[in-house]
Amino acid sequence: MVKWWKQSTFYEIYMPSFKDGNGDGIGDFAGITSKLDFLKELGIDGLWLTPFYPSPKVDNGYDISDYYGIDPDYGTMADFEVFIQEAHRRGIKVIADLVLNHTSSKHHWFQESKSSKDHPKRDWYIWKDEPNNWESFFGGSAWEYDETTNQYYYHAFAKEQVDLNWANPDVKAAMLDTMKFWLEKGVDGFRLDVINFLKVNDSFQDNPLDVEKNEQNHLYDKDQEGILAVIEEIAEFVHLYPDKFLVGEVGSENLAILKQYSGLNKLDVVFNFNIGSIETFDVEKLYQQLAATENVYDQAQIPTLFFSSHDMSRHFSRFGGDEDRAKLVAAFMLTAKGVPFIYQGDEIGMRDWVTDDISKMKDVQGITHYQLALQAGKSYKEALVIANEKSRDKSRTPMQWTADSNVGFSENLSWITIPEDAYKINVEAQQKDPDSMLSFYKKLLRLRKNHSALLAGDYEFLRYEDDMIYFVRKDWVEKIVVALNFSNQPKTLDIDPNVELLLSTKRKSLESNHVITIMENEVLILKEVNENGCFK
Ligand code: GLC
Repeated sequence: MVKWWKQSTFYEIYMPSFKDGNGDGIGDFAGITSKLDFLKELGIDGLWLTPFYPSPKVDNGYDISDYYGIDPDYGTMADFEVFIQEAHRRGIKVIADLVLNHTSSKHHWFQESKSSKDHPKRDWYIWKDEPNNWESFFGGSAWEYDETTNQYYYHAFAKEQVDLNWANPDVKAAMLDTMKFWLEKGVDGFRLDVINFLKVNDSFQDNPLDVEKNEQNHLYDKDQEGILAVIEEIAEFVHLYPDKFLVGEVGSENLAILKQYSGLNKLDVVFNFNIGSIETFDVEKLYQQLAATENVYDQAQIPTLFFSSHDMSRHFSRFGGDEDRAKLVAAFMLTAKGVPFIYQGDEIGMRDWVTDDISKMKDVQGITHYQLALQAGKSYKEALVIANEKSRDKSRTPMQWTADSNVGFSENLSWITIPEDAYKINVEAQQKDPDSMLSFYKKLLRLRKNHSALLAGDYEFLRYEDDMIYFVRKDWVEKIVVALNFSNQPKTLDIDPNVELLLSTKRKSLESNHVITIMENEVLILKEVNENGCFK
């Protein structure tokens, strides 16, 4: 039996900004449940929910203060249960984001740990008399002085997100218990946050400087010895429950590192940042990363395909703000080999948001860099530019359901207020337009579902030529040709004459000769057939 997740397309929901169900300006479970029919019709198979547990939300829920509850902003446990039931009723799986690396500083474990050096929970976190030079990934030192016991504690992210000490077996036991709780509540797996950070080097040596990038090289605070053994234990535990799925956030663009974490007895997949976080648009690089992944991964490993998330700029804006290009990127993500993860709003081509007012910024990373820039003597204006670059609010604005910006996100409480004109791009309008981004995503998702070669086929070949990515995927039933012309020039495709048009962004039918001209910026998807109309 093929595992369900191998043939699934996931959709990431950023909890506070997907859909507000009770009018308080914040997304919630009732809201998500009300949009399950939309998601089903879109054609996705699984949802990834960002953290929904009780949290002070210094980092929007990635600072959990209770692993066994639902944050009141998002509803009640009963709302969660209804949501899971309704998602499952529609054949949609649900994976929960789980933060195992750190807890909120408000979590009672940390409160107990900091209360005295002799407390049994002292060793659940990492305490030192003196800090080393390790830097937080949000900027500044990764050590915070705590005057209760005159020691420093370690936090790889904000000081309110305190790193757990995974060298302590009680920490592991507590976290496995958390997973058990949610698996028994019916979640179909987890997205494991910053999972390669669980172990730090116990020598606590200073990190060296990366001279080229002029920033710290995080040599001793991630991907440390022993991490794979921990991952194997977690995977073994979760996979005791049949059919559960694990996707890991391994924060690295290095394919050799990413490769270590997935496959048999490990995580099912990891996010392929080597492909997904390409910063500026570069088709050749995209191709090279896809081809390198294909070469380096073994039979048991499948890449993930994504270009946006709540942590990065939306690909629509990042890659130049062009509708045709966004469709090419969508076609790449949904036809290449891998498990796709669509980020909410990408299916309507939502854009990045930047602010001219620092008081509107919510993201702890943006705000921290703003403060650090001011401390370093930058002007307010310069600091705001830096803050906007670092801020992840860009992609966290409310999902644009209708042309009315107030619907679902009341003005005064709104999670983030975005300019009225942004709402010109909205679900309601695009549902009526057969050429819209939304209609295109639906067609792609339907195509993917209807063609086994797109779901599970191998590459017969995978090529790059002059800003065009061109591949054939085949299984024992069919061969599908995908040509993505990212350039502004038409190109000729030398192709077998016996093909049938499945999808194009530029034509309704095919020319009847051997050489097909693929138009500039065209997505062209064909199926090879023989004279009798089937696979040759
Ligand atoms: C992950 C999350 C990000 C969060 C960080 C710390 O990278 O995706 O949003 O800030 O972990 O938990």
